Parts: sequence; structure tokens; C-alpha cells
Amino acid sequence: MEVIICPDAEAVARTAADLFATYITRDTCTLGLATGSTPVATYKELIRRYEAGELSFKNHQAFLLDEYVGLDRDHEQSYYRTIRRELTSHIDIDDNRVHSPNGMSENPSEAGRAYDDAIKEAGGIDLQLLGIGTDGHIGFNEPGSSLVSRTRLKTLHPQTIKDNARFFGSPEDVPIHVLTQGLGTISEARHLLLLATGEGKAQAIADTVEGPVAAVCPASILQLHPHATVIVDEAAASKLKLARYYRYAYDNKPEWQQIQKA
Ligand code: F6R
Repeated sequence: MEVIICPDAEAVARTAADLFATYITRDTCTLGLATGSTPVATYKELIRRYEAGELSFKNHQAFLLDEYVGLDRDHEQSYYRTIRRELTSHIDIDDNRVHSPNGMSENPSEAGRAYDDAIKEAGGIDLQLLGIGTDGHIGFNEPGSSLVSRTRLKTLHPQTIKDNARFFGSPEDVPIHVLTQGLGTISEARHLLLLATGEGKAQAIADTVEGPVAAVCPASILQLHPHATVIVDEAAASKLKLARYYRYAYDNKPEWQQIQKA
């Protein structure tokens, strides 16, 4: 896994957007999108580059990582609405090609299988963006998730409900269940890009990058992926034992391997 340590959250967003641009400038690509606070600055940077005429999304499609169970797609806090608000309504992607798990399905297991099938039919995900929970979750694969799980219903950890209450007003309003891509599903994306900013994510990042691969930290599956990039700010990197080496390796990267700057 490659770890890129940036001075601050803005630099994380710019570096992530540079990496996104290498996919978006292809004729066609399939993006995996995350919601939550972390990717918002990256999405703003992508919108800026779209408005400047540098990027077009019109031949691309996207799949979301997860969706709340019991929230209609049009609910203000559904992840479908959230991604529209934060990104997709501001760019030229075809809205019919922005997919999310069906959180309103009466048969969540079936909805999970259908979602995995849709990803497969689309040819798989080229670049999957990930945020990380303070407990090490990716998507909503909470600690204890099977490392080979598929898209399915999960119960949110009380800590995640607490963390997400800021979007809903109170913890009681946060749905307890979600449909989330499984760790096995996420691992099938050809390139994983994990972003984290702020001190609150420092322990989760240390466990992900330098801890054992274990269900107690679901994001640690990135260690098993052939192409994973972790972009963090100084605060989120503050508990990494090998931070100096990651910086050295990044600074000395062969030119052909460098993220093409937009
Ligand atoms: C959201 C998602 C979650 C978030 C994680 C971090 O689609 O899958 O895993 O990425 O909870 O959220 P923020 O970025 O709000 O700290």
C-alpha cells in the first residue's frame, strides 16, 4: 500500500483529485464513491476542475458504497441525495448511471446481491474512494465484519451512530441499519483510495496501515490489496510508526509512477 502524507486537508483533496483525474480522463471509467465529511473537499476540487473544463464525467458511471435502510432515496440524508448534493448534480455525469444500494427494499439480502451483480455487470469498479470510521470501518463494515463479505445489511455500531448524529440532529434519528458493500466487494475494485484527515482518525489509520489484518479493523484489508493508496494529513498520520519512510518513498518515487498532476 502506498501512504501519502500531505501537510493539510486541502492538500489531501488536491492530491486525491489528481489521482481521480487519471481515471476521469480515460474514455470511460467506473468510480466508487463514498459519502461522509472526508471526501467533500475532494468532490469540491473535482467540481472546480469540471467547471474549468479540465474534466468531464459524461462517459463514466458511479456506484456508492452504502445506503441507510429505511430512508427513501429522496430523504435529505440518504446517501443517494447526499452524493447528488455534494457531487453528481454539479457535474455532467448521467444521473441514471449513479447507483446506490436499495435501502427501501423489503428483501435487503436480495437487494445486496442485486447490487453486487450490477457492479459486476458494469465491469467492476476502477477506482474506489473510501473514508474511514474512528472504529476502522470502511463502507459500513463495522469491526467484526467478515473479510470476504458481500453487499448486505449491517447494524451500525453505537459509535458510528454517535459520529453520524451530526447530519441528523440527534442520534435517535440515525437509522440503525444500512446496506453496505462488503469487504469482499470493496476488495474487487481495481484501485482503492482511502482518505483520512484529522487527529480523530489517527489510531484507525495506524491500525489500518501498520496493525495486523484483522476483522477488528476492517480497513486493514487494504494491506491485502494489490493497488491501495492512502492519503492522509499530518494529524491523521500522527500515529504512524513508519511515517518518515512513507515520506521518503513518496519523495523518491520514480517519475513514471507519480500521480499525473492535472
Ligand atoms: C460513507 C462511508 C463511511 C464513511 C466513514 C467516515 O459512505 O462509507 O465509511 O466514509 O464513516 O466518515 P467521515 O468522512 O464523515 O468521517
